[in-house]
Amino acid sequence: MRKIIIDTDTATDDAVAIIMALKCSDFDVKAITTVAGNVDLDLATINALYTVELCDKNTSIYKGSSGPLKRRLETSKFFHGRDGLGDTGPYQPKRKEEKENGVDKIISLINSDPNEIEIIAIGPLTNIARAFMKDSSIINKIKSLYVMGGIGEGKGNITEHAEFNFWVDPDAADIVLNSGAEVKVIAWDTTQLYGYLDKNNFDDLEKINTSLSRFSIDIQQRGLEYYKVKYNEHKIDLADPLAMAAMIDDSETEYKSCNIKMILSGEERGKDIISFSEEGKVKLASKISRNNFLNTLKNSLV
Ligand code: RIB
Ligand code: CA
Repeated sequence: MRKIIIDTDTATDDAVAIIMALKCSDFDVKAITTVAGNVDLDLATINALYTVELCDKNTSIYKGSSGPLKRRLETSKFFHGRDGLGDTGPYQPKRKEEKENGVDKIISLINSDPNEIEIIAIGPLTNIARAFMKDSSIINKIKSLYVMGGIGEGKGNITEHAEFNFWVDPDAADIVLNSGAEVKVIAWDTTQLYGYLDKNNFDDLEKINTSLSRFSIDIQQRGLEYYKVKYNEHKIDLADPLAMAAMIDDSETEYKSCNIKMILSGEERGKDIISFSEEGKVKLASKISRNNFLNTLKNSLV
């Protein structure tokens, strides 16, 4: 079994990614740590607790950072809704989060099981950066680190220059991506190519007709309306589920080695500037199996 930490700003796509992880027979999710991003920390935590309960699991959840390292928190409630789950709530999970802080939990799990823990970060990188700053020895003890973030070789989604996770906390992204850790990055460019759901895909998901599939479809409706108005398309890009599908089965993913320079302020704040290099510790996904994404997603919702 693979030992996993999910670091998340739990909103509409994060919730589906969490379901995929909890339903993966090869994953032992040791902890879910929450971070402010799409919504504030309390809501991200409530949404994670609710999603875990929906999967009939009792995975422990730990609150992490309530805001970026240096900047004021700016959420994406305009897209994910005030509650972060497409305003389909309110959700009152039965359980509470653990008392231990999420950043400390990341450190303790890695130190107690060196080279065994795999992390997927699907929100701003504030918790991961804080963990690296608090105990830099963990950088070389992580078995794998997957990050959903950045524009890769494409354009941004929160500004034309930047993708949301890296835009919210560019300082944290800079620390993590230049820490020396090997980081697998699934950026917004591959999400738009391989990680979208169109009308036919939703029709397939509707046929599953389980509590998980209905929840996963319902919480996307607000985002679908946004896409309809903005792009006149029945479509949505599910960044975090694509990253999770790549982590679950990386066999068909192609990566290019690179170094990343982060722009920390100004009009291009949050921009990841890619320099391809064989020596680069950042592995940028350039091709991801759309079939693997769709099949893993569907199999997770039955
Ligand atoms: O840009 C997409 C990312 O920003 C996803 O992680 C989504 O949940 C939002 O956090
Ligand atoms: Ca997210």
